[in-house]
Amino acid sequence: MADERTTAHVPVLLEEVLQWLDPRPGQVVVDGTVGGAGHAVELARRVAPSGQLIALDRDPQAVQLARGRLASFPAMVIQASYAQLPEVLRQRGLSGVDAILLDLGLSSLQLADPQRGFSFSSPGELDLRFDPASGEPAWRLLEHLSQQKLADLIYRYGEERYSRRIARAIVQRRSQAPLRTAAELAELVARVVPRSRQRIHPATRTFQALRIAVNRELEHLEQALRVLPECLNPGGRLAVVSFHSLEDRLVKHALRQDPRLEVLTRRVVRPGAEEVARNPRARSARLRVARRRLGS
Ligand SMILES: C[S@@+](CC[C@H](N)C(=O)[O-])C[C@H]1O[C@@H](n2cnc3c(N)ncnc32)[C@H](O)[C@@H]1O
Repeated sequence: MADERTTAHVPVLLEEVLQWLDPRPGQVVVDGTVGGAGHAVELARRVAPSGQLIALDRDPQAVQLARGRLASFPAMVIQASYAQLPEVLRQRGLSGVDAILLDLGLSSLQLADPQRGFSFSSPGELDLRFDPASGEPAWRLLEHLSQQKLADLIYRYGEERYSRRIARAIVQRRSQAPLRTAAELAELVARVVPRSRQRIHPATRTFQALRIAVNRELEHLEQALRVLPECLNPGGRLAVVSFHSLEDRLVKHALRQDPRLEVLTRRVVRPGAEEVARNPRARSARLRVARRRLGS
């Protein structure tokens, strides 16, 4: 497990999220992606003492950590996908909540854990699962997918223009020796992709694609966007922070097209230069917020 003292997750767009969700004492609010509990602690502080925070994460390590951080607040932390929120609420006899936050992607804690393969230099197996008990690790996809399927996956989920080159290199490499670690994959991709002028690592898009595939991230998000409006009380708010265009596109369209919702952020909210300088992970963050219409 990563050392949490050195890898604290700095919550992205925290002030903006609090402003738009406007949590108040007595309300019931949901953090659907609790991670390192950065947003969750502030949400819980604002609804306390009479309100309640319900926090979810697919990652059992995040759940354990968040339980500790939220111990002194009126909060429950449950291992579940945010797409399962309707069942979570039903099981607890709750009919609706006042706010829901989804802060998508991965946390600094996951990134810093060498056993899980999220970081490019990681000597551990390329796993990339949020919940290590569900689905198959990414190294296994590299082992058995055809060159065509690998290329399609990297193109579709990574929006990587060199997907074919990368897939060819993976298949060539695996015919000689297994490709098991994050560091091995990052090195291979860096060798075949021309260095871009951006400052991101050349393997960023490939890792993103594999992570999205092993966790079925877009399926969970699509399902959530269909069912979460139903979990909101009239006037309740849904805020989603996304980190790449595939997610943001889904969020933008779903919020706009849902007759139950009224979009509050007329323009997407992005972090200011000062936040990006303080926390480079915020660089690509985009926040969209909608409110459940009264009478819907
Ligand atoms: C960016 S981090 C959240 C950080 C958190 N807001 C904080 O301030 O510490 C995203 C978290 O969402 C979790 N996650 C990803 N997909 C999920 C899903 N479908 N349901 C619940 N949690 C999910 C990941 O395991 C990760 O811990």
